[in-house]
Amino acid sequence: MRIAVVGSGYVGLVAGACFADMGHDVVVVDNDQNKLAALKNGQVPIHENFLPELLSRHRGQRLQFSDDLQGAVRQSAAIFVAVGTPPTESGEADLSYVESVARELSGAVDGYKVVVEKSTVPVYTSEWVRKIILRNGTDPEKFDVASNPEFLREGSAVTDFLFPDRIVIGCDSHRAAEVLREIYLPLTSGQYYERVDAIPQPDRASIPAPIIVTSTKSAELIKHASNAFLAMKISFINAVASVCESVGADVSQVAHGIGTDSRIGPRFLSPGIGYGGSCFPKDVMAFRIVARECGYEFRLLDEIMHINEDQRQRFLRKVRNALWTLRGKRLAVLGLAFKGGTDDIRESPALLIVQALLQEGSKITAYDPAAMERVRETLGSSITYANSAYEAAHGADALLLLTEWEEFANLDLKRLRQELKYAIVIDGRNLYDPEVMSAHGITYYSVGRPACLPDGVPAAALKNGKKA
Ligand SMILES: NC(=O)c1ccc[n+]([C@@H]2O[C@H](COP(=O)([O-])OP(=O)(O)OC[C@H]3O[C@@H](n4cnc5c(N)ncnc54)[C@H](O)[C@@H]3O)[C@@H](O)[C@H]2O)c1
Repeated sequence: MRIAVVGSGYVGLVAGACFADMGHDVVVVDNDQNKLAALKNGQVPIHENFLPELLSRHRGQRLQFSDDLQGAVRQSAAIFVAVGTPPTESGEADLSYVESVARELSGAVDGYKVVVEKSTVPVYTSEWVRKIILRNGTDPEKFDVASNPEFLREGSAVTDFLFPDRIVIGCDSHRAAEVLREIYLPLTSGQYYERVDAIPQPDRASIPAPIIVTSTKSAELIKHASNAFLAMKISFINAVASVCESVGADVSQVAHGIGTDSRIGPRFLSPGIGYGGSCFPKDVMAFRIVARECGYEFRLLDEIMHINEDQRQRFLRKVRNALWTLRGKRLAVLGLAFKGGTDDIRESPALLIVQALLQEGSKITAYDPAAMERVRETLGSSITYANSAYEAAHGADALLLLTEWEEFANLDLKRLRQELKYAIVIDGRNLYDPEVMSAHGITYYSVGRPACLPDGVPAAALKNGKKA
């Protein structure tokens, strides 16, 4: 199948590379000339496992890069629109990029094509896309608009795309559904997974990939509702963590007890500094507005956002409680990306915390395995960049763990303690066992668990600095 993917970001580039690996001929279109030049030169603009491998496998063969949208549309049976839908100031999804692609592609619909929304968009967007294409003179018989929301997670995007929990196809025409079914056939038939050069199968893969066919509007809603539900799970456990802190319970024990209920499940029950990234914050906000426009006040979504914001403030209070004043304090920060495994810093809670600490006069030395270049573009020289976790920790008043990179969960604690000026670790991701930290002589604060002092005595058990 000949496919065009418009947008070469985290979704478009991964989708394009994966479609090529599934055997399709793909042209990825972008209007960012720097990105295109880098991609054509063999560079990989984002940090994502297996992506370099797929790009080098297919670049120049089954995978082309271009700025010619109309040319790409003419040669393709399906056009996946994967451009950004960032939030506007009022929180709605900015659909101007989607609209401009719809307008531009109209002139090139010279035979039957399916225009597929891959971007996350509010319900009713497909109707607007259809209207725009018609308004620009396209024959209604020559195209359909479908929705195929993307559920990949940055950090495991390639694996998520090729081994999805489900593929959702929202179509209001049988013909469009058939085109999309054919595109995903290598995954839904299981044929892809039999290949010796297939990307390795992750632990929890559903094979062959299940496909769910719905109306277009239902598919659009599935994406917003899924992200809102996942954000709700995170905010829920963060709220439970706050109660744990008040009463001296351990949220990891509570989460285990909740998550083993098969109706609830253990995933997304890790407390921390709140969700971030380019999806959850904007999608919860956009969904809230869409619901209101449709006549429903979805107040639960307000609370999800409120708890999320509060979680960062609670962490900042924790830092102040551990260090007293922050002006002039040298803080080591491990992790700047919004989560482990990615270089994406959009709406990163780690970055928001760093910015708040800078405002309070702290001096920050940070290390992140993948995101430092992007942070340099935002924060410039207002922080110092280290080459390793230990270099960041050297001489610091305390160490803050802000992103759950695997390497941060496996630090040499003896060495870390030696590097730090004061052996204080404030962990926003619960990467360590408090007892292990205190056994290493580290005063350790985490989320929803009692703080631990070096001799293993929880802080709550001390009165006026003495054992109660
Ligand atoms: N990032 C994720 O984890 C993720 C997951 C699922 C869904 N989504 C959704 O997918 C969409 C894309 O997200 P992303 O993270 O890949 O965004 P991104 O900002 O990384 O990439 C968007 C790309 O589109 C290009 N673009 C914009 N206008 C264009 C035009 N008119 N013609 C050609 N190219 C154009 C931009 O140059 C950019 O390269 C969003 O709606 C997002 O909500 C993202």
